[in-house]
Amino acid sequence: MKLLIDDANIDEIRRLYDLYPIDGVTTNPSILAKSGRQPYDVLKEIREFIGEEADLHVQVIAKDAEGMIEDAHRIVKELGQNTYVKIPCIPEGFKAMKALKKEGIRTTGTAIYTAMQAYLAAKSGASYAAPYVNRIDNMGYNGVGVAKEIQDIFEIHGLDCGILAASFKNSQQVLELCEYGIEAATVAPSVIDGFVNNVAITAAVDAFVKDFEGLTGEGKTMK
Ligand code: E4P
Repeated sequence: MKLLIDDANIDEIRRLYDLYPIDGVTTNPSILAKSGRQPYDVLKEIREFIGEEADLHVQVIAKDAEGMIEDAHRIVKELGQNTYVKIPCIPEGFKAMKALKKEGIRTTGTAIYTAMQAYLAAKSGASYAAPYVNRIDNMGYNGVGVAKEIQDIFEIHGLDCGILAASFKNSQQVLELCEYGIEAATVAPSVIDGFVNNVAITAAVDAFVKDFEGLTGEGKTMK
């Protein structure tokens, strides 16, 4: 499963890339707003750091197809052809996805709360569909269940579209989808850190070091 960072903070992106096997970055307009900087300044900095081949997903703002297509043109012009343009799965969004597919611009259907939205995105030529796992949970439904349902539908109908599961609030949600063979997950930095943030892990590592230092002296390592 590809693991992407759902954040636009360059320090956090650098830190996580340094530590973990990261495959790319996703942003949305709310995430960009948090930076307090001009969107393309932030996005170009991210693109430069992750490299031109890495996955970067950037969302349009316009709500009509024509405007979405214009946004998409600017996004790929500024950030490169390898950028996935996130298009909300609303009626005008499908229209934009179909047009962008003809132009060879890759899209990610986003703001997905139902499997039918994902089905329409895939049929409209999107490369990815992004179900909002935790937001669906918050509505009293099963976010992981919806993502799995989408995976099944894509398989049954032979649709060539990946799932980029999004909006996670805990490790368990990510784990369940990893186990189900979901192609990609985009995860906030705090949730990624949570994968290995466990007192039992820290205690085990500390105990090994303490035992070793009892033999060789404080600060000694295997070097
Ligand atoms: C990604 O496409 C979404 O914009 C993002 O994961 C939403 O996450 P949130 O529900 O934590 O805002």
